[in-house]
Amino acid sequence: MSNNPDVLSTPDVLSTPEVPGGGTRDPAGGADPAGGADPAGGGAPPGARVLYDLVQRRRDVRGEFTGAPIAPDVLDRVLAAAHAAPSVGLSQPWDFVVVTGRRAREEFAAHVRHERAVFDATLDASRSRRFAGIRIEGVLTSSVSLVVTYDAARGGPAVLGRHAIADAGLYSVCLAVENLWLAATAEGLGVGWVSFYREPFVRELLGIPARVRPVAWLCLGPVTHLEDRPDLERHGWAARRPLAEVLHAEHWGARIGAHDGATTG
Ligand SMILES: Cc1cc2nc3c(=O)[nH]c(=O)nc-3n(C[C@H](O)[C@H](O)[C@H](O)COP(=O)(O)O)c2cc1C
Repeated sequence: MSNNPDVLSTPDVLSTPEVPGGGTRDPAGGADPAGGADPAGGGAPPGARVLYDLVQRRRDVRGEFTGAPIAPDVLDRVLAAAHAAPSVGLSQPWDFVVVTGRRAREEFAAHVRHERAVFDATLDASRSRRFAGIRIEGVLTSSVSLVVTYDAARGGPAVLGRHAIADAGLYSVCLAVENLWLAATAEGLGVGWVSFYREPFVRELLGIPARVRPVAWLCLGPVTHLEDRPDLERHGWAARRPLAEVLHAEHWGARIGAHDGATTG
């Protein structure tokens, strides 16, 4: 990108040849989701490369948990990273419930199995067959569960930046989750986000107040390895889109072709 703020140049990722097949996505992994950019951040300064590499290595984990304990100082660092996230109006509207007890996790896992069946019933026969081979949680095989919640009353009543967009509070919680996810990856841990649940069930299970929303049930723990590709891609359920497919120049829908300049104002 140009250093001149008045001149927008084409991001490098757009200056690469089109994805073969016109950018269509191949669940078997044909498309390049980074749009031609070096996913590991080649060319970036060394410190930045560490981050880019982490971002690419982060995976949603279900089947690779070892169940080994997490050292308390590691858990502290990961939670501190989550708590350092940006938040609308500096409201920090999150809480983290650390769930290690077997009983609560078993009850949650049973609830997830039920919700899995509910979702499965919405699928046609072929999607249902594919879904049958896909694992959606590692609640009991991971070392600990972290439930991340959202309290809309935190920092209120006048939360700076939320008056027009109520969801900005939820966005903040999701940023805490992403911080946590990246920190855990850096610590050699896996994270799996489970959303096959009804909020009232989790509230009741963990004694969460009625005004507080459980946003994420995260499974956390040491792993044997992180897969190179998302599970859903490996199982042919969905595939990542090339970056160029989601970029627009100036106006929605104005695509930038390979080797075109974006705009020079
Ligand atoms: C809000 C949210 C909810 C998710 N819920 C589930 C879930 O219930 N079960 C599951 O297996 N994966 C879940 N995932 C993980 C996604 O399937 C995963 O992030 C996606 O397939 C991309 O894979 P990756 O995270 O390994 O890059 C969830 C992810 C997000 C962001």
